[in-house]
Formats: sequence, structure tokens, C-alpha cells
Amino acid sequence: MSLIPQHILDLQPYVPGRTIDEIKRAYGINRVIKLASNENPLGVSPQAVQAMIASMHEINRYPDISSFLLREKLSEMFNVNSDAIITGHGSEAIMQAAVRTFLTNGDEVITCKGTFVGFYVMVNACGIKMILVPLKEYKFDLNIIADAITPKTKIIYLANPNSPTGTFFHKDEFDDFMNNLPEGIIVIVDEAYFEFVKGNSLFPDSLDYKLDNVITLRTFSKAYGLAGIRLGYGFGKPELIEHIHKVRLPFEPGVPSQAAGVAALNDKQFLDYYLELNNKGKEFFYSLYDRLGIEYVKSETNFVMSIFDSEDMVNKLSEKLLRKGVIVRPLRPFGLPHCIRVTVGLQEENEFYAKALEEVL
Ligand SMILES: Cc1ncc(COP(=O)(O)O)c(C=O)c1O
Repeated sequence: MSLIPQHILDLQPYVPGRTIDEIKRAYGINRVIKLASNENPLGVSPQAVQAMIASMHEINRYPDISSFLLREKLSEMFNVNSDAIITGHGSEAIMQAAVRTFLTNGDEVITCKGTFVGFYVMVNACGIKMILVPLKEYKFDLNIIADAITPKTKIIYLANPNSPTGTFFHKDEFDDFMNNLPEGIIVIVDEAYFEFVKGNSLFPDSLDYKLDNVITLRTFSKAYGLAGIRLGYGFGKPELIEHIHKVRLPFEPGVPSQAAGVAALNDKQFLDYYLELNNKGKEFFYSLYDRLGIEYVKSETNFVMSIFDSEDMVNKLSEKLLRKGVIVRPLRPFGLPHCIRVTVGLQEENEFYAKALEEVL
């Protein structure tokens, strides 16, 4: 008899984008750019760096378990009470704690095929049944999700905007969906790309709704450029959040992460500069793809997904781009094997990618 439960034997692990050093070694090339993980290509706010350096004197001590200063800052910024806020080792850690808090055997989860692969891994790791419904035109269709609800549904996961497609569902769709949702279901709204879409009047900021059954997740990994220190936060009714607090690891996030988070939120200039750069980069991608006749989906994030005829084409193209020093993300693990996601880089990186793409095509 195996020591390993069947659902763990069957588990497909999370496969990250390949690293720059790995590709340099594998192909013997000097210049490699990574456009695979939706990181901030500019770097990180200098104020956040200073705050982390200053915090180094304190790393012999465990971090503040309550993330007091960071939660105070988030509370002030988003006008939400501190007891409705949770922080974690990346938003994924909060997502995982929520999955472990709310799901028990026999429950079901619903989300889409073609969304954040990390969520699939978490649910499968718990051996919980997950229903994957299709996207419609590469977008979450909340009607299809509503139709898949059963009496066993406990969590619905919605990524808005969605990764890897870059699309978002609109206010009217979310209103309708939430108004008709049966009781007893928790909706996780993953807003990892919130900063990129928040100016769009059609976007339903899930915080505005003050709903009893919604957990909102956000991150410092994307717009704030802090992927490497793992820092995320979430909002929800205190009656839900207090239980996630019991389940999560007590001392996350670490001392430098908490300090960096407060400083990053204070540095609006860095954020605005990056958002502008990203918008220009997206326009560059659109015109590149238009010129080359590549189908793509317009995005409200820091990446653009393009669509090909087959997985074979995607694999060949990605491999050829790797040889030219460009790492992109083929989307088989996300359930979209005929698609590739490319993160918007610095302008010189975008141009390097454009040149490589034209050559390999
Ligand atoms: C939709 C979505 N949610 C969550 C994450 C993970 O965020 P974090 O780095 O905060 O764990 C990602 C990262 O790629 C993402 O695309």
C-alpha cells in the first residue's frame, strides 16, 4: 500500500516560468530576458528598498504577527477596518489558508479552465472536487459558473482580471451573479492585477460591495515589483478573516516584507510611472501582433496573451524564442495549450522580443 494518498500521487505540481540563469546555461547565451511571470520589469520602489535595508537590524526577532503597521496602512488606504484585513507570504499563501479554512471533504469548488494554475494545485492538494467550466471568449462567464453550482459548492474562485487571459468581468455581471448566489458559498475574488484595471469604470472593485461572503485577494508581486519577498493581502468580513488567521502560518509575512509593503504603498510615484510604462508597452505589443497577423486578447494587466492554431505551434515558437534569449509562458498548465502569455517588459526588452519573434516567425 502506498504511503502517499491517491490525490497527491495524481497531483500536477505548479511549474514556474523558467529562470534567466537556467536559460543562459542551457543555451550558452549571454542576453536573456524573462517575460514569463508578470513581474515588474522596472524593479522596485527605492523607498521600499530603503525600508527593507532599515528593517535588517530587526531580523533576529520574529515578525509582528499582526502586521500592525501594514494593516494600518492598508486600512487607511482602502477605508476598511484592520480586522477585515489579512496579510500573507504572497496572496497565494492567503488563498491556500482560505482553502484549508473553508473546505471539508464532500465540498466542491468551481472555477474556470484557463485561470490561475496555482489555485488548481491548492485545491487538488486537498483532494477536493473541483469543477472547471469553460471561459467564454477568454473571459470568465459568470452565468456559466452560476449554472455549475450544486448544493455541495463551497468556494467559487474568480480571477478579475484573469490570468493568463488578461480579461475582466464587468460590474453588471458581478452584481447579477452576487444577487443570485445561493447562501453558504464563499467567493474568492483574486485581484492580483487590481492596480492595472482600477481606473476602468466597468471594473467591479469587490471591496466596494462590502459583501459577507467575499474574500478579496491582492498582491505586491505585480504592480509593486515585490514578487521576490512574497507579500500579499486580503479583505473579508472579520467573521471570516479571523478563522483564516487561525489556519495561516503565524509569522508570515517576514520583517523586511512588512516594512517594504508600507513603503511601497507610500510611493505612488513609482507605481504611476510603471503603470504608464506598462500601458505604452501593451500598445507596442498590440501593434506588433497586428503587423504580424497574430491573434491576441486585449488585456487589463501587465501581460498579453496570444492565440495560435495548435499546441505544437506554441511549443515550437516558445522553444525558438528561448534559443534567442526570450522566456515566454506557454499555457498548457493553465488549460490553454494553444496560447502563449508574454509579460510587458521595459521598452528595450519589448523591442528585443519583437525582433526575436519576427525572426522566428
Ligand atoms: C491571478 C494570480 N493570482 C495570484 C498570483 C500569485 O500572487 P502572489 O505572488 O501574491 O502569491 C498570481 C501570480 O502570477 C496570479 O497571476
